[in-house]
Amino acid sequence: MNITSAIFKCSSEKLSQVPADGLPEFAFIGRSNVGKSSLINMLTDKPSLAKVSSTPGKTRLINHFIINNEWYLVDLPGYGYARVARTVREKFSKLITDYVLRSDKMHFLFVLVDSRLEPQKIDLEFIDMLGRNGVPFGIVFTKTDKLSENQAISSMARYKRVLKGSWEELPIMFATSSEKKKGRDDILDFIGSCLAAEDA
Ligand code: GTP
Ligand code: MG
Repeated sequence: MNITSAIFKCSSEKLSQVPADGLPEFAFIGRSNVGKSSLINMLTDKPSLAKVSSTPGKTRLINHFIINNEWYLVDLPGYGYARVARTVREKFSKLITDYVLRSDKMHFLFVLVDSRLEPQKIDLEFIDMLGRNGVPFGIVFTKTDKLSENQAISSMARYKRVLKGSWEELPIMFATSSEKKKGRDDILDFIGSCLAAEDA
């Protein structure tokens, strides 16, 4: 998959505002600060397309970026930002759950997790919700530039072990670094194959 154009389309504060053109959407979600916006910039090779910040909670709306005039990359708000969040409903805002569970144009959801951390409860809860609802998703390990090659491999293996405790089939996984442009081809080729399967 080659990206020839990447243009900001719109920000939505509710599901009813997202583009209604029916084009396929590939979305990115994860905890605040995990690197969603950075990954979108890395994939599109446009360093300031999506707003990046070291302060968590930068992306508050659903942002659509149209790629090659044919499909969308979607930057979702981070979860786990609110300080008081006891129930799943409080943890994952209505905007997030509406989009991931009800958007019929979302072809695939990339769930980003920080490769440096052991599996986090909130991510496992989110993944669990996706699994129970049959949402197609994969896991993207971010910031692998902060780890050695071996540390990154064992971090992914640890994640697999934890998921195996609840799931028979493991989701597809990608090791990435937006800093080092690692994982770009893997993700873009994966999206390309999803789109090709759609056309077939
Ligand atoms: P919210 O919009 O607040 O939910 O955050 P986000 O998930 O979009 O994260 P964002 O892309 O804004 O990045 C958060 C911080 O992590 C920024 O300081 C980035 O520079 C840094 N960061 C993101 N990706 C990488 C990476 O691959 N390597 C390193 N070293 N830092 C990264
Ligand atoms: Mg962001």
